[in-house]
Amino acid sequence: MNPSATTPASAVTPTSTNTQLAFPHRPGFLWGTATAAHQVEGNNYASDWWQLEHSGSTVVAEPSGDAADHFHRWPEDLDLLAGLGLNAYRFSVEWARIEPERGYISRAMIDHYRRMVAGCLERGITPIVTLQHVTMPAWFRRAGGWAADSATELFAVYAETVLPVIREGVQWVCTINEPNLQPLMTKLHANDPEALAAWNGGPMPVPSEQEVADLIAAHRSATEVVHSVPGVKAGWTVSIADLQFDADGESAAREWFERYEGRFLRAARGDDFVGVQNYFRTTFDRNGLVPVGPDARMTDLWEFYPQALGHAVKSAWEETEGTPILVTENGIPTGDDELRIEFLDTALASLGEVMRDGVEVLGYLHWSALDNFEWAMGYEPRFGLIEFDPVTFERRVKPSARHYSDLVRSRLRTN
Ligand code: NOJ
Repeated sequence: MNPSATTPASAVTPTSTNTQLAFPHRPGFLWGTATAAHQVEGNNYASDWWQLEHSGSTVVAEPSGDAADHFHRWPEDLDLLAGLGLNAYRFSVEWARIEPERGYISRAMIDHYRRMVAGCLERGITPIVTLQHVTMPAWFRRAGGWAADSATELFAVYAETVLPVIREGVQWVCTINEPNLQPLMTKLHANDPEALAAWNGGPMPVPSEQEVADLIAAHRSATEVVHSVPGVKAGWTVSIADLQFDADGESAAREWFERYEGRFLRAARGDDFVGVQNYFRTTFDRNGLVPVGPDARMTDLWEFYPQALGHAVKSAWEETEGTPILVTENGIPTGDDELRIEFLDTALASLGEVMRDGVEVLGYLHWSALDNFEWAMGYEPRFGLIEFDPVTFERRVKPSARHYSDLVRSRLRTN
C-alpha cells in the first residue's frame, strides 16, 4: 500500500490554466482520451445493460438510447481527437454486438471495429482496445456471467473472434475493465438489495474469493489469446482510489485496499502493463470510511481532489511490483468546464511528480472524449471534453479540450 497516500493536499500545487505545466518528457508517451462502447455508441440492444435499462429497474435514471451515436459518427470523432493533437484513443469493442447470441458471430461488427482501428491508424492515433467494459451479452449474463462454469472458455472464444480487429494494427489490449467493480455489477443485475444500496452511497459488496478467481481466470485466458499476435501488450484496468488515513485509520484503510484493489493489482504482476483508473480519494479514520465533509470542494458526483491521481498510480506501481502503468481513465463529472481545466492541470502535475520519482507511466487517457451515458446516473454527469446535441448529435469541442490539446502540444517538457 502506498505510504505516500498520506501526502497532504498542499504537496501538489494546482497550476490552474498553466499550459507550460512541468511534466517529464517521455518519448512515445500516449496522450489521449477514453470511451466505452455502451456509453457512447447507442442502441446496444443485445447487452445486459440494455435489458436492465428496459426492465423497469429503479436504479437506472434513464435508458442509454442513441447515446452519442458514436457507432456511426466515430470518423468525425476521431477527426476531432486527431485535430486536438492527441495520439491515443481507448475504446471498447462490444461483445454483445460481436456475439449477440451464443456462438453467432457478426462478421459485420468485426468489420466495423476493424475499420475503427484502421481509422485511428490513418489519423496517427494509437488504438487501445478494451475487450469487455462493464457490458456483456445478455445471454452471457443469463448464463451466470463470470460465475458460469464455462465463463473463462467463452471469454477466450470471444477474444479469439476479436483477433482480426487486433491484427489490424492494435498494440494495446485491455482485457477486462475494472474487474474490482464487476461483482457489484453482477449483484446489480440480480436486483440485489445490497447492490442497490451501494449505488445510493451504502457500503460496497465485498468481492468473494471465488468471484476474484473467476475474473483472474478470464483475464489470463484472454491475455493468452491476445499474445498469440506478436508484439501486442495486454493488461487489465483497475479502479484505484487514493486511500488516505491517519494512524488510527490505517487498519481500516488496509482492509479496504485488500478487499477492492490489492488482489486485482497483484494479479497484474508480470502483465505487460496495468491500467489505473482514478477519480477521487477515500479517507479513513478510527471509525472507518470518513464521509466527505460539508466544506469539501465538490464535483457533480464526488469530492474534487485531482491530486489523487499521482497517489493512486504510485500505490498501483508498488502493489504490482513495478508493472508499467497506463492511466486508462481519469476525469471529472462536471458541468463547469473551468473546473475540468483545473482538474486536468492538477491531476497531471501529480502524475508528473510520481514519474519523476521513478514510476514508469506509459500514457494518460482522459475520461472521456465525449459526454456519455454514466450508467445508472444516465446522461446528467458530464465527463466529456466534447459535448454533443442530443437531437442533432452535433459535436462541440469544449475549452477544456483545447486546454488539454495545448498541454499535449507543448509536449509537457521537463523544466
Ligand atoms: C470508470 C468506468 O470504467 C467508466 O465506465 C465510468 O464512466 C467512469 N468510471 C466514471 O464513473
